[in-house]
Amino acid sequence: MAGIWTVIPAAGRGTRFGGDLPKQYLQVGGQTVLAHTLAALFAHEAVEGAIIVLSAEDADWPGWSDFEGKPLQTCVGGATRAESVLAGLRALPEQVRGDDFVLVHDAARPNLSRTDLAALLERGRADPVGAILAAPVRDTLKRAGDDGGIDGTESRERLWRAFTPQLFRRLQLSRALEHAAQAGIDVTDEAMAMERQGLRPLLIEGAESNFKITTPADLARFEFELQRRPAR
Ligand code: CTP
Ligand code: MG
Repeated sequence: MAGIWTVIPAAGRGTRFGGDLPKQYLQVGGQTVLAHTLAALFAHEAVEGAIIVLSAEDADWPGWSDFEGKPLQTCVGGATRAESVLAGLRALPEQVRGDDFVLVHDAARPNLSRTDLAALLERGRADPVGAILAAPVRDTLKRAGDDGGIDGTESRERLWRAFTPQLFRRLQLSRALEHAAQAGIDVTDEAMAMERQGLRPLLIEGAESNFKITTPADLARFEFELQRRPAR
């Protein structure tokens, strides 16, 4: 079976994290967050290469053309995550055909497990549309009023939190993102763009440990998770 390419949006500003160095370039356990993210993806033999989508102002990209023997390419992203992902899809090598599946995975999600990636690839590629990793909502959900008081409690039944990677076909995803952009809707994940086309991606339950590094507390959590990892 043909290998799978990955689009890695890494063009964000990290405003919630703060600091001078973008969060994907912070060192944890001897390598950058981005290197951990790449290692997690490339651990699967079906993953063939990656496009890293960088900000036009990025001064910290190390200039890699490969990682662990697999090719890396870069392109420049946009003002929103969706624009960056679309730029990445356009920059994929020509050998990636329109109906080939591609992965999209946040640069800031370095703790993806082998098991979850394998499940996504196996079950997602068997689905006509594609699939995403996600986890059911576990907390009780409150709707806030304008005054900060609680207006009510919402049911969490059937509610899931969307993670990445997300797996879709190159052309279908590009078209879905283009349509959303034309409609002026900022889709916050790939599945949302596909859903707007009337398609129904598969939800695959993944580990909570595949969290996104958003604040410094998340980086500390990642450091902790790394120390607990069994040696490979
Ligand atoms: N991203 C991107 N292009 C953008 C915005 C975000 O490629 N215009 C990427 C980020 O680099 C990150 C992923 O999308 O890897 C998830 O976004 P998020 O965690 O929100 O990162 P930032 O946008 O960088 O952080 P913040 O929202 O706090 O500014
Ligand atoms: Mg953001």
